[in-house]
Amino acid sequence: MIHFFYLACLFTVTDSAFSKRFGAPIKNNDRPIIGVLAQDVFNATPQRNAYIAASYVKFLESAGARVIPVMINKTEDEYKRLFKSINGVLFPGGGVSLKSSKYSKTATIFYRLALEANSKGDYFPVWGTCLGFEMLTLLTSGESLLSHTNTKGVALPLNFTDDVRDGRLFKEFPEELLKSLATERLTVNSHQWSITTENFAKSEKLKSFYRVLSTNSDGQNEFVSTMEAYNFPIYATQWHPEKNAFVWRRPYIPHSGRAIETGFYTAHFFISEARKSFHSFRSVKEERKALIYNYKPEYTGKLSAFEQIYYFD
Ligand SMILES: *[C@@H]1O[C@H](CO)[C@@H](O)[C@H](O)[C@H]1NC(C)=O
Ligand SMILES: *[C@@H]1O[C@H](CO)[C@@H](O)[C@H](O)[C@H]1NC(C)=O
Repeated sequence: MIHFFYLACLFTVTDSAFSKRFGAPIKNNDRPIIGVLAQDVFNATPQRNAYIAASYVKFLESAGARVIPVMINKTEDEYKRLFKSINGVLFPGGGVSLKSSKYSKTATIFYRLALEANSKGDYFPVWGTCLGFEMLTLLTSGESLLSHTNTKGVALPLNFTDDVRDGRLFKEFPEELLKSLATERLTVNSHQWSITTENFAKSEKLKSFYRVLSTNSDGQNEFVSTMEAYNFPIYATQWHPEKNAFVWRRPYIPHSGRAIETGFYTAHFFISEARKSFHSFRSVKEERKALIYNYKPEYTGKLSAFEQIYYFD
């Protein structure tokens, strides 16, 4: 299936107006733009109905992407138009409901659009982190299979599965980094809910859709910590690759050289996937208006688990 996507991608490329315009076939879109999903603010006030933690933006920018905020509470038509303008979407971590929040409503639309597009050979990667990971398990299985785990604030080494060898996500990671990932506490867990390997194995829908790349344990229950879809460019980590370089508020977040490499190679992988997407805004003006550069992150200091947050109306 990987081959299928690769071919589908090349096909789009040779066919695209872009390569025709410039003569030579172009293999990659080196100007990828990623949509990051905003989420509902718990105590919403005017001008502060939704937010994005700045760490997700920096994480993507560090690997060569630009970011646009995907606002919540837009119409389906607006999301469809946006979907055709961007080269990937990231569902970030957070604390909103997976069933009733505007975040979940928006994620549901983008997930469906991504499945449709990829099925037609229109490459479009999706990334889920923490809550985004949990959201994807719900979207794929259609049921809530999450269990409580004692993983609110802890960095852990990844327990790689045998299937990681057939996987894509870690393929280009340096050998030394993979060794460190398996032995050092480089991946930050900041969640109360997880999909246990037991529940995962019970779900035909999850088992047939996702390859489990790593697991972790809270000492009681083993849970899935990294997964990727077999036949779609959909990737998810229960851990936070964006925190290591960009969040300092919690003592368990590692900042070692290897920890920073972990974040970078993870972002690099996802953006490499986004370079296979050829969606674009209809005009430079529309693109400029959508970019997150139009907004200023706020320093939230002691008030938050993040240093900087973008707030939206
Ligand atoms: C936006 O939010 C309001 C208030 O929750 C709701 O009534 C409205 O239907 C929402 N619009 C969309 C497009 O979701
Ligand atoms: C890693 O996963 C294997 C397979 O589930 C399990 O047997 C082993 O105990 C796990 N190791 C750790 C350190 O959790």
